Amino acid sequence: MKICRTKAELRETVKGFRANTETIGLVPTMGYLHEGHMTLVRTAKAQTARVITTIFVNPTQFGDPSDLNAYPRDEARDFAMLEAEGVDVVFAPAVEEMYDPSAQTMVETEKLANMLMGALRPDHYKGVCTIVAKLFNIAQADKAFFGEKDYQQLLVIKTMVRDLDIPVEAIGVPTVREIDGLAMSSRNVRLSPEDRQAALILNKALAYGDYEVADGREAAELESDIRAFIAREPRATVQSVDVRDATSLEVPTGKVTAPVVILLAATFGDVLLIDQRVCDPS
Ligand code: PAJ
Repeated sequence: MKICRTKAELRETVKGFRANTETIGLVPTMGYLHEGHMTLVRTAKAQTARVITTIFVNPTQFGDPSDLNAYPRDEARDFAMLEAEGVDVVFAPAVEEMYDPSAQTMVETEKLANMLMGALRPDHYKGVCTIVAKLFNIAQADKAFFGEKDYQQLLVIKTMVRDLDIPVEAIGVPTVREIDGLAMSSRNVRLSPEDRQAALILNKALAYGDYEVADGREAAELESDIRAFIAREPRATVQSVDVRDATSLEVPTGKVTAPVVILLAATFGDVLLIDQRVCDPS
């Protein structure tokens, strides 16, 4: 496995792959890898000849500097996991390598980036789009893989690819769960044993919501029912429950007839967890 620290090294490596007409798959991450990330890597390996994984804790998508500093890191472990999976290249640049000190260009999907999670975290999706656009430009991948767990992020990236004619296919990969249904996340290790158990309410609430969608309900009714369902778990504090059109993230009017996504955010102790499920009423 080749480790590239600079953009020039990665460009040179990519040139070699392109010269052999090998297809390239890209898996962008912020490291501290778990099975969710590794599933993206395996999906990429199954679909493209060469796989590039990036590990970069991107400062422009963090609002709070202390949140950025607290982000968990373990590069040696990440490299070992990627090597064992047969990844061809890992790109792990320093912040100074990725951002010129006088950088002034950002990419923003104006509408999608500022609703839902974007309304709570101003500039977050602008930072995500900017770093992902830069990675697309450097890695020149045919396909790039993103988790449906971060559903709004996936739509933001797909929208940017469409709007800027970026020659890459952005592919969504279903959320990977623990055996008991909890969505995998690097935050799960911070849950107390009681909260870890209580957090199962999220996946159960999604299953309940899916069942209700099939019953021809209105979005607002679904949202309040799902809220009430989660409130049965006293350790959970609901942050948001949104039932939105699965492609536009707009609020559906009237009875739900087209596919919707249920987006949940709840805290357990001081740990914020998110989960989502796409439901098709037909
Ligand atoms: P990060 O949180 O490291 O996640 C990297 C990728 O792994 C994302 O596409 C995310 O959706 C996916 N992922 C995380 N948990 C998953 C799970 N349980 N099942 C399936 N996929 C999962 O998301 C980012 O990094 C950054 O915003 C990034 C896109 C790299 C830009 O900086």
